[in-house]
Amino acid sequence: MTCPDPDRARHGVFAIFAAVLSGTGTAWAADGPLAVTVDACTTCHGPRGMSQGTMPTIAGMDSEAFAEALLAFRDGSRESTVMGRLVGPLSDEDIAEIAAYFAALPGADQ
Ligand code: HEC
Repeated sequence: MTCPDPDRARHGVFAIFAAVLSGTGTAWAADGPLAVTVDACTTCHGPRGMSQGTMPTIAGMDSEAFAEALLAFRDGSRESTVMGRLVGPLSDEDIAEIAAYFAALPGADQ
């Protein structure tokens, strides 16, 4: 079976929202190892960044465009529903690392 487990995914989303809404929100991200952070991203953006729903696929994006998107979400210059709050705790280094990680993954057209 290759189907994703919806219960597990839903649980992950709630965990992230709880962390974000509680205002402490760094446990899953900035302080953790990169693996923990990118795992949190895939809860919404799909396994290995390949979206299986309405979220954008983020795998295989140009790393500069990716980092620019996250920086714009962080400083509020790009409108977002959730991304601005999610990337708030991330440092420039975190963002560069995450961008490089997802850029290296095979994207939708590869
Ligand atoms: C709670 C669900 C959720 C999580 C978790 C999440 N995202 Fe997003 N992401 C979205 C949504 C929704 C959008 C569309 C913009 C918006 O409304 O916030 C988006 C947009 C993006 C975009 C822009 C894509 C494009 O095509 O321009 C990037 C890049 C991105 N997310 C990266 C990440 C990274 C990196 C993480 C982990 C740190 C992450 N996302 C975690 C929901 C999520």
